[in-house]
Amino acid sequence: MRLLVTGGAGFIGSEFVRMTLREHPDDSVTVLDRFTYAGNRRNLESVQDDPRFMLVEGTITSAETVTPLAEAADVIVNFAAESHVDRSLEAPGEFIQTDVYGTYVLLEAARQAGHERFVQVSTDEVYGDVSSGRSSESDRLLPRSPYSASKAGGEMLVFAYRASYGLNATITRGCNTFGHHQYPEKIIPLFITNAMDDRPLPLYGDGTAVRDYMHVDDHSRGIDVALRRGDGISEYNIGTGGEVSGVTVADTVLRLLDKPGSLKQFVQDRLGHDRRYALDSSNLAALGWAPRFDFETGMAETVRWYAENEDWWRPLKSGAFWEFYSRNYRPLIAR
Ligand code: DAU
Repeated sequence: MRLLVTGGAGFIGSEFVRMTLREHPDDSVTVLDRFTYAGNRRNLESVQDDPRFMLVEGTITSAETVTPLAEAADVIVNFAAESHVDRSLEAPGEFIQTDVYGTYVLLEAARQAGHERFVQVSTDEVYGDVSSGRSSESDRLLPRSPYSASKAGGEMLVFAYRASYGLNATITRGCNTFGHHQYPEKIIPLFITNAMDDRPLPLYGDGTAVRDYMHVDDHSRGIDVALRRGDGISEYNIGTGGEVSGVTVADTVLRLLDKPGSLKQFVQDRLGHDRRYALDSSNLAALGWAPRFDFETGMAETVRWYAENEDWWRPLKSGAFWEFYSRNYRPLIAR
């Protein structure tokens, strides 16, 4: 199989690329990545000399760029997205452009190229705040942030391309993902790297909102299972079933790094903060997928990775990072 992996220099995308080349010796991978702040060439260092790998710099919003790449591929796996909720609250436009319009450009290229398969990597956030029970794939989509609305918009276009043109397209809806190579803006890498430098860990509101945290290797394998064993026309939830609060994330990081509880700092809440996401992932489990990491093991591995790879993340926590940081966190936290 010849895969076109968009956003393949990002956190989850780059793990999917490494895993595909490792586990599927007959496959080749072309990565298309725009190298926004979240894309990183270093994430692909381990595969750059593989003759089955090619890297193209460009945006999914350009049909001119995407069309020839789609023609040379059998399947598109779309990881390319603006993905941080707080950034979407500050500036939604870029999210609509990449996550909605960019998805349209890819779908259209897949249709023109006559692809048999397409994978849209989406998120559990499309279900919105889940006060009780677990979201099934057939539940209504009720996104509440500009980010989740733009991901739901991308999904709507996938539905339309399935119904209108018979395009076989799979959607995966993953839960919160953490692990090696994650840009330090999401809660887990932010808290690990802040704690390593004795900086405060900013908890939104009362820190009791819960998320299901899944290791990136498990997420990547889940997408692989959905691609290769799924029916090609369905949505698949990917989650571990865990429910972990922000305070527990902070306590776990501080314990693993042997840092004091006084680093926890409660700050003004996120606008429209979803209190809980929870997935029923039994459809993917029926295809043979199960997570290998539990939260504790994944956290220990991740803390170790950030401790051993300071040369990877330190350059990222500079200029533009701190500008966003000081705009986003209220009250301002002294650096
Ligand atoms: O659920 C899947 C989604 O998980 C992905 O689709 C998104 O791309 C990804 O950003 C993530 O969204 P969240 O908003 O849940 O992740 P984040 O790490 O930003 O926040 C996780 C929880 O931690 C949430 O309850 C807000 C809280 N939080 C987050 C940050 C960054 C804090 O308390 N303090 C923080 O500084």
